[in-house]
Amino acid sequence: MMRSVDVARGLRGVRPVRVLFVCLGNICRSPAAEGVMRSVVAERGAEDRWVIDSAGTGDYHIGELPDRRMRVHAARRGYELTHRCRQVWEGDFEDFDLIVAMDGQNERNLRRVAPTPEAEVKIVRMGDFVRHLATRYDHVPDPYYEGAEGFELVLDMLEDGCRHLFDIVEGSEE
Ligand code: 4NP
Repeated sequence: MMRSVDVARGLRGVRPVRVLFVCLGNICRSPAAEGVMRSVVAERGAEDRWVIDSAGTGDYHIGELPDRRMRVHAARRGYELTHRCRQVWEGDFEDFDLIVAMDGQNERNLRRVAPTPEAEVKIVRMGDFVRHLATRYDHVPDPYYEGAEGFELVLDMLEDGCRHLFDIVEGSEE
């Protein structure tokens, strides 16, 4: 499980570090992760050292803004989500250093898209970076069929996980 942390540690010398967040629809969890990560990076004045994007394994919502519920919950915390949904593809394994899956299904789907075994090494799990709530969840649960609590849970987990990921890659944490 901590392989994800080791892979992130391996990026300490890499700048810019290019991170792609991936979920199923690319309208709830991964665009929120992108927005939260952009905010963490801006807070620390590290915009020139990070490239951040998101994508979905599915193709149901291509071109759409994030789900309205996700945008509302994110906006309350100060995140404006303007990403347009796109599907993950083989070339993403060339364009990004770290590909962060929200759950096990995303991870399995990403392994099928990876063009080579070396590319597969870039796939990590968001849950491995989340310390808060880690005793209850090892993945970021899909909020699509949930109520408000589901969206708040996702944001709580992403805020913790993105900060941790930043600290690991920037070397400010063991
Ligand atoms: P996401 O949530 O993977 O966090 O973006 C979902 C959004 C849409 C669907 C599934 C999950 N869908 O099946 O349309």
